Amino acid sequence: GAVGDFVIAIDGPSGTGKSTVARRVAAALHAGYLDTGAIYRTATLAVLRAGIDPDDAAAVAAVVTGLTLDPPVDPERQRHLFHGDDVSTELRGQAVTTAVTPVSANPAVRAHLLAVQQRLAHSGRMVVEGRDIGTVVAPDAALKIYLTADAHERARRRLRQDEQLAVVSTGVTGANPDRAARLAAVASDLDRRDTSDSSRAVAPLQAAADAVLVDSSDLEPAETVRRVLGLAAERGIR
Ligand code: DC
Repeated sequence: GAVGDFVIAIDGPSGTGKSTVARRVAAALHAGYLDTGAIYRTATLAVLRAGIDPDDAAAVAAVVTGLTLDPPVDPERQRHLFHGDDVSTELRGQAVTTAVTPVSANPAVRAHLLAVQQRLAHSGRMVVEGRDIGTVVAPDAALKIYLTADAHERARRRLRQDEQLAVVSTGVTGANPDRAARLAAVASDLDRRDTSDSSRAVAPLQAAADAVLVDSSDLEPAETVRRVLGLAAERGIR
């Protein structure tokens, strides 16, 4: 990239507030924002729409390596399109969330999506969020953050995020008597995904050796954003 370009890598498990923090950091720095989880989710949607078993590695590889992906990079405008349709809400749904684990563990999928991510990551001032940004996608990043939070807090945040999306998509609001059960389901789903993300053979979830660990369990998003912007400023990024 050109002089003044940078990558800030933000990695960590689900439900740490990564997306919110990364988007706000990008907006504050007038930088682009790349949600790499959404890229894996879009590839997964393509697999499901093609009627392919997500565990059929060869068939999955054939579909995904044929995809041309053009994810949004404006932090204020994250509309994910598939064949021209806005699939942003469907990407967060249960079908995609379940199938994304085997799809993202597929080495051919990762190789194909790596090229897309690296092209965009090095296209200017970029905040890139995912699982393997500091280790694989942008090992040269100017700043690497590894965001953590305790498991209960992460489940709470992910459920709240899902509920907000449901409100957007259906207009239904209000209390739900099954909230405790849904929180438990979210917690076990997070645990399942974290375990497989961390133990897969290719590009597992792990903190880069030079990442700064930030525990967001007791931080409001605004405080986490301030901390990341402070670390960026120390590296000459402002
Ligand atoms: O951040 P997310 O929940 O939208 O990510 C969806 C899945 O994609 C997650 O279970 C693991 C995978 N993923 C990955 O393997 N590598 C990345 N850089 C980002 C996401």
